[in-house]
Amino acid sequence: MEKNFPLTGFGTAAVHSGHEQDPNYAHLVPIYASSTFVYDEAEQGMRRFSGQEPGYIYSRWGNPTFTEAEQKIATFETFGVQKNGKQVEAKATLHASGMAAISTLMIANLKAGDKILTHYSLYGGTEELITNLLPPLGISAIITDLRDLNIAEEAMKKDKAIKMLYLETPANPTIQCVDIEELSKLAKQYGMLVACDNTFATPYLQQPFQYDVDFIVHSTTKFLNGHGTSIGGVLLGRDIEFMKKKVYATMKTLGGNANPFDAFLLINGMKTLELRMERHCHNAMEIAHVLERHPAVARVNYTGLPTHPDHYVALKQMRHPGAMLSFELKDGLQAGIDVMNNLKMCVRTVSLGTCDTLLCHPASMTHYSVPKQEKEKYGITDGLIRMNVGIENVQDIIADISQALS
Ligand SMILES: Cc1ncc(COP(=O)(O)O)c(C=O)c1O
Repeated sequence: MEKNFPLTGFGTAAVHSGHEQDPNYAHLVPIYASSTFVYDEAEQGMRRFSGQEPGYIYSRWGNPTFTEAEQKIATFETFGVQKNGKQVEAKATLHASGMAAISTLMIANLKAGDKILTHYSLYGGTEELITNLLPPLGISAIITDLRDLNIAEEAMKKDKAIKMLYLETPANPTIQCVDIEELSKLAKQYGMLVACDNTFATPYLQQPFQYDVDFIVHSTTKFLNGHGTSIGGVLLGRDIEFMKKKVYATMKTLGGNANPFDAFLLINGMKTLELRMERHCHNAMEIAHVLERHPAVARVNYTGLPTHPDHYVALKQMRHPGAMLSFELKDGLQAGIDVMNNLKMCVRTVSLGTCDTLLCHPASMTHYSVPKQEKEKYGITDGLIRMNVGIENVQDIIADISQALS
C-alpha cells in the first residue's frame, strides 16, 4: 500500500496498517527469528548504537516483526482520534505479556513515595503487582470505588503523592465500567498521569486517547490476537519522546520483550479485529437476552442491558457493549459446577478474547481456594459464571447454553 493512501475505515486499517514492503518482497511480514542483527562495517555498528542511523541491533531492543505489530496497534488506538483539530499520535512497545507491559508502565513512571489511584474491580495480576510487588519499592496504591466521582475527587484532593490514575474498564467479573472522560478530567486537574487497561474493550470499541489518557495497556493475548495462540502485551503512550527514551530503556532493561513468532500470530489475528468484535458483540447481546429470561438465572451482568449499573457509562464510551458477560445462577455452587459439566460445545476454561465461546466458573476454578468473604468483595459469588461470547453462529451458542442450564 502507498504510504499516503488515506484509510477511512477501521476494518481497512486493521488489514493494511503497519505493513511495510519487505526487502525480499515477502507478502506478509516474515518471522524475524534472529536474536541479533549484523553490520556492513564497524562504523555502521557505531552509527546504530549511537542512534545516528536507524536499524535493529538486538531483538530484546526491537525486531522488524514487533515493529509491524506495534504500528498496527498504534494506528488502532489513534484511528480518527483528534485533539485541537490535530490527529493524535502514539507509540506502542510490544511486550511478552500484558503483565510485562503493565510492569514497564509502572517502573518507567513511578518512584518511591508515589501512589497509584485505582478502582477495586481490577485484573488479579495487576492487583498483585500494585499491592504486593510495588510496595517494597516504596510505591503504593489507593484502591477505591471510582464509579463514584465524588469519592475519586476526594481521594485526589487528599493525597498529593498520587502520581497515576490507573483505570481498567470494563473489568472482571461483573463487567463494571468507570467513566474515562470524567476521571481523566479530574486527574488532569490534580496533575496526574492517566493510564487505562483497554483489554476487554479493544480499540475498536473504545479509544481512551479520546479522553486525554496518557498511556494505554493491553493484554494482546485476548481480543487483539483473537485466537488464543500467544501471550503478549503492549504499552502505548502519547508522549513519543518519553516512549522512545524512558519507556524503551525500561522495557529493554526489564527484559519483558515480545518474541517474533508471537508477534507474527498477533499481526495476523489483528487483521480481523473489526469483523470479530462486531460478531462477538452481536452474539453477546443475544445471549444476554436469553439468560435474562431464563428461570435458573438470578442476574445477568452485561453492560448492554439497562439493568447493569454502568450501562450509561458503557454507552457513552464504547461503540458496542463488548463480548464479556457474567451471570449468576439461583442455585449457587453446585448449579455452577453442573452447568460447566453439561457444556457440549462451549469451552470450559479461563482467559478470553478467542473466537470460541469460553465459560469459567470462578468459585470452582480460579477462585476455588479464596475465602468466601474475599471472593464476595469482588462480586464472585458461588453461582457466578463468566462468559467470553464467541463468534460462532449465535443459535448454536444459545442451544448449548440452554441445554446446559436445563
Ligand atoms: C484486563 C487484563 N489486563 C491484563 C492482563 C494480563 O495479561 P497477560 O496474561 O497477557 O499477562 C489480563 C489477563 O487476563 C487481563 O484480563
